[in-house]
Amino acid sequence: MTGCCVIGLQWGDEAKGKLVDLLAPRFDIVVRYQGGANAGHTVVDGGQTYKLHLIPSGILHAGIENVIAPGVVINPATILDEIDGLVARGVPVPERLRISERAHLVMPWHILEDVILNSQKVGGESIGTTNRGIGPCYRDKVGRTQAIRVGDLVAADRDERIRAVATAKSNWLAGLGATAEDLATIEPERVAALCGEWGTRLKPMITDTTERLLDACEAGSDLLFEGAQGALLDIDHGTYPFVTSSNSSGVGVSAGSGVPGRWIESVIGVCKAYSTRVGGGPFPTELTCATGDRIRELGREFGTTTGRPRRCGWFDAVAVRYTARLSGATHLSLMMMDVLSHFEELKICVAYELDGRLIRRLPSSAEEVRRCIPVYETFEGWNEPVDDATKESDFPSLAIEYVRNIERLVGVPVGILSVGPDRRQTIFTANAPPLPEPVVAG
Ligand code: IMP
Repeated sequence: MTGCCVIGLQWGDEAKGKLVDLLAPRFDIVVRYQGGANAGHTVVDGGQTYKLHLIPSGILHAGIENVIAPGVVINPATILDEIDGLVARGVPVPERLRISERAHLVMPWHILEDVILNSQKVGGESIGTTNRGIGPCYRDKVGRTQAIRVGDLVAADRDERIRAVATAKSNWLAGLGATAEDLATIEPERVAALCGEWGTRLKPMITDTTERLLDACEAGSDLLFEGAQGALLDIDHGTYPFVTSSNSSGVGVSAGSGVPGRWIESVIGVCKAYSTRVGGGPFPTELTCATGDRIRELGREFGTTTGRPRRCGWFDAVAVRYTARLSGATHLSLMMMDVLSHFEELKICVAYELDGRLIRRLPSSAEEVRRCIPVYETFEGWNEPVDDATKESDFPSLAIEYVRNIERLVGVPVGILSVGPDRRQTIFTANAPPLPEPVVAG
């Protein structure tokens, strides 16, 4: 049995969806285990582009089970829209998708709360959430008294529970300044009726996924765990408070899925050959100049979920070394190498200067990270296209040198290189992770 995790090592948007979709045919089950519809995974298949937010990226393959585990927060309206969109394009989602009864629901009041609180500043800056209700939902999960889980949608006392929570939320949000129009969207009878519809539609897919995954592990199945966001956005280990509300680094896999670490064999840490960040928060290698604009333009760096332009900068080996260690990365997958084909000179951050001292670790305080001045090593750019490369030896020697330097600075071998959005634009190097043989046609 192989448990393989795909974890973003930066601030999200590392093109994990492409990788999961590519690897999925080798696995029996693909598992999403944290985050929610704040994620946006783009998968290109047969010239068609699919944008997935909640549904695991293995959904396009026949013969693969896709699981949404307890650690995910699910907006029922969003998942149903996503299911309908895929079904309309011929993907039989209900046959392929299982949803944990333990997962929590992002309710309409969570979205209102997220929008209201997003206008507040922490340390002089807004977190800039995706407004998808993620933080408020996780807060209610931990608070317990006002949480609604997937299993509640099909429970006998559903309406009673929904009405009670909706009433309490309505009073509370009125105090936070919600408008009458906003409050009408969470009117108790209205939400109870919606939950009835959601329950009926989702019921065939709702199950005890924890039991299912543990059975699968013991039966020798191969599992692929699909991380959302990136490790620098991890609630406990990221650039707090400018983070998301779940454990998006490798440490979150077991807690979110219910599958203990003993079943996990490899961890693929995914990073771009440069850095991006959406929303607020410190970003030491950010380029607020023409070079940053050029990376954004070449890399089409606009958010899948919100369409916001991403902040762009050079590769930060200090931050990625930290998240690779934290996530237990056994291999790196270096994405968007093609974007760097157009620069005379490339830089990698190898240390920070903080208040006059040289440091080689990411400080725990966002305030300190903000004061970090990157110390760079500079490399000559290869300046020729690599998007047709099918093996590492097709790369110009300067591109190979760039890859070797990332391995040296992060301390993890690069097993996979991506040179474009298509599945075929992926190179497995001599250091590729051990993967099961394909079980279904890719
Ligand atoms: P939230 O997850 O919507 O609460 O947003 C918290 C922070 O995480 C914001 O800076 C978002 O821009 C960022 N974020 C959340 N999800 C993603 C993602 O999938 N990719 C990149 N950034 C994300």
